[in-house]
Amino acid sequence: MNMQDIIVRKRDGRELGEDEIRWMVRAFTEGTIPDYQMAAWLMAVYFQKLSEKETFILTDAMRTSGDTADLSGIPGIKVDKHSTGGVGDKTTLVVLPIAAAAGVPCAKMSGRGLGFSGGTADKLEAIPGYKTSIPEERFFRQVRNIGIALITQTGQITPADKKIYALRDVTGTVENQSLIASSIMSKKLAAGSDAIVLDVKCGRGAFMKDVPSAVSLAEEMVKIGKSAGKKMKAFITDMDQPLGYMVGNALEVREAVDTLKGNGPSDLTSLSISLAGAMIFLGGRAETSEEGEKNARELLSDGSALRKFQELVLAQDGDPAFIDHPDLLPQPEAVREVVSGQDGFVTDVDAYKIGVLSRESGAGREEKGDSIDLAAGIELRRKKGDPVRKGDIIAKVYGKEEKIEGLPERIAGAYSFGPEKPGKDAMIKKVI
Ligand code: URA
Repeated sequence: MNMQDIIVRKRDGRELGEDEIRWMVRAFTEGTIPDYQMAAWLMAVYFQKLSEKETFILTDAMRTSGDTADLSGIPGIKVDKHSTGGVGDKTTLVVLPIAAAAGVPCAKMSGRGLGFSGGTADKLEAIPGYKTSIPEERFFRQVRNIGIALITQTGQITPADKKIYALRDVTGTVENQSLIASSIMSKKLAAGSDAIVLDVKCGRGAFMKDVPSAVSLAEEMVKIGKSAGKKMKAFITDMDQPLGYMVGNALEVREAVDTLKGNGPSDLTSLSISLAGAMIFLGGRAETSEEGEKNARELLSDGSALRKFQELVLAQDGDPAFIDHPDLLPQPEAVREVVSGQDGFVTDVDAYKIGVLSRESGAGREEKGDSIDLAAGIELRRKKGDPVRKGDIIAKVYGKEEKIEGLPERIAGAYSFGPEKPGKDAMIKKVI
């Protein structure tokens, strides 16, 4: 096999064979194909695209490039959930306890975030004592005993994707739908669940900026999952303004707990119920997604989901006292207020700008390995459609004094105001 031939064939728009793709992924992971050749291939893919068949083979080659989880020892249909990432997206912390309370086994491995705020693993680390890394044997036992475990990725899952993604990141080849779909799905398939619910975010604060491209990505991922024998459902959901009011790790844990208590913001609550409903349906605990949603609503309102979350925290050595005493979560060094300069209505809160500013407050990483201030972030006090008067506090920013200096004015700049109340955007744009 010769990498130069593979590059030329893709450059000329021809379809690659299974043996070529598998060989290339293996050789690149092992280090026998240099970065410059892989980069050339990725750029050829960017322009010439991959066929459905090539995409599936690439996904599978990356899936099997490292450790894969075998969850077959856990009884029941195991259901995973994945979000393509957005600003203030803490749904995993709400959705998984609901699904687990419905009897759907949730054995989830979550990553750390590189983007605006931390990933789920970072958010969990804001919980006093919570261990995100536990031995495999304990992980399995916990899912068998209480139906839920939420940990960081263990072992070497999809090393090929890690290496290829790092190269895409610096060669302008991230934005190719087949490469994105295969990258995400290789990790999801390696994590071993029987069914997957995808939340494909769409809008300014997301990877996919418009509905057609989000739908197209979702369709491709659903196809890959189904070809691998998984039950799949995908939601295209709004990410033009942040989800909920809190952006930042400890802040998001607080808001997730409020939501599990039934006091969460309406957008986060309704999206969580839809995603949990789909998980309950795919997990065989409801006849339809609608029935799953009805169950999810009941499990939220009767406190079962909150109790499941408490069990999860305890099982992973966390101290659940923070559930009733949020001041036990990491506290910021300083707080600054953002004040409205005018009367009227909020007509827009730009999720991208809020995401960037929350990262600057210390809530997210610029680069892998950067440390995170778990207490840092932004609390929105007003969102689209809310009335405001000049002088009202519309947001607060938390973090270290030197980091949040100057941020209030820039946070105010993420807001738009007008004299009329704007219409409401649909949270769920499409279900596949
Ligand atoms: N997230 C991933 O895991 N991979 C991509 O390619 C893009 C987003």
